[in-house]
Amino acid sequence: MIPRGNLAMMARSIFGKSPSDTDEFERKLEDQIDAVFYAIGTFKGAGPEDYIPWLKRFPNGAVKEAVRQAELMDGIVDFLLDGVGVRPEHDPNNPACLADILLAGEKTGELDRASSCALVSDLFGGGLDNIGHQVVWLLLLLANRPRVQDRVYEELASVVPPDRAPGIEDKPSLPYLFGVIAETMRYKTVNPFGLPHRAAQTCEVGGFTIPAGTQVLGNMYYIHHDERFWDSPYDFIPERFMPSPDGTPAPGLTAGAFIPLPTQTSGNFIPFGAGLRACPDRGFSEIAIWLQASRLLHRYHFEPYPNAGALPEDEVFRLSVTSKPYSLKVSRR
Ligand code: HEM
Repeated sequence: MIPRGNLAMMARSIFGKSPSDTDEFERKLEDQIDAVFYAIGTFKGAGPEDYIPWLKRFPNGAVKEAVRQAELMDGIVDFLLDGVGVRPEHDPNNPACLADILLAGEKTGELDRASSCALVSDLFGGGLDNIGHQVVWLLLLLANRPRVQDRVYEELASVVPPDRAPGIEDKPSLPYLFGVIAETMRYKTVNPFGLPHRAAQTCEVGGFTIPAGTQVLGNMYYIHHDERFWDSPYDFIPERFMPSPDGTPAPGLTAGAFIPLPTQTSGNFIPFGAGLRACPDRGFSEIAIWLQASRLLHRYHFEPYPNAGALPEDEVFRLSVTSKPYSLKVSRR
């Protein structure tokens, strides 16, 4: 449900809303994107062949299916962009949603339709796979750790009264919640290898020569679990992202800035990658994850079903690292 909620949020911010939208427009936006994208990202595509391109030469049903789903997605996005273009209020000079901006770019020749579709798909991918699965991990980890969840709730309840939802302005007063979110992003790095890059020129890294043209992947998962940088890396310890009472910066953040924005991610804590090609959407993602986590944990309590035991925390490695699907007992605070 959470990745799907993120997909719906992305869909609205990309395509906006207008009273003139047809039922078919709404259906494609609400249901069809959801179904196709869920199939692309969660079940079928995204295996080792995404990182090792020559594997695609072998017959592979998953790749074929992912290509088919991606084509379906392009058809839907194409339809939705046309739908935005015929809205009476559509004004390329006064954009109300991202689709307005893309259409303006197409008009000036800066973009073609294929690039607009690719861009929209990337945005959906980021929202569904990364933000969504990071929140899914967070709830799972806290359901298995009731004492951590209670401490998050106590902190939230002491700052945010029950009759309003937490807002981003509350963030500085909630350091433990921040520690829990950052630790979740380290402990379960949803984007373990970032995206494949190619060396533009021959260079040397750590004594190894990387010839020009080599495909390069950063192993963020390993960096986040390397004992040289983290004490007990396989334990979930939110405190490592909290400053000490004497003001000493949090050990987890001294080497890699996470917040405040603008973030130039570097060092040992790099859930958004590092350098010039780091995730362009980290600002939005940090806010989206924080709002979802704070509002869910302020209002609800999450636990495994009675007698079901702890939820499995195994990682499913695809393009993103996801949990296995799970069910939780949710009660209102
Ligand atoms: C928790 C949320 C997210 C995480 C952990 C995350 C992580 C990453 C990482 C690790 C990379 C690769 C960086 C590298 O290779 O050095 C990346 C790239 C990228 N991300 Fe995100 N991401 C998140 C959310 C999003 C969202 C919501 C979007 C879109 C709306 C997005 C769009 C992109 C794009 C377009 C790139 C490619 C940038 C480039 O190659 O220049 N990401 N992200």
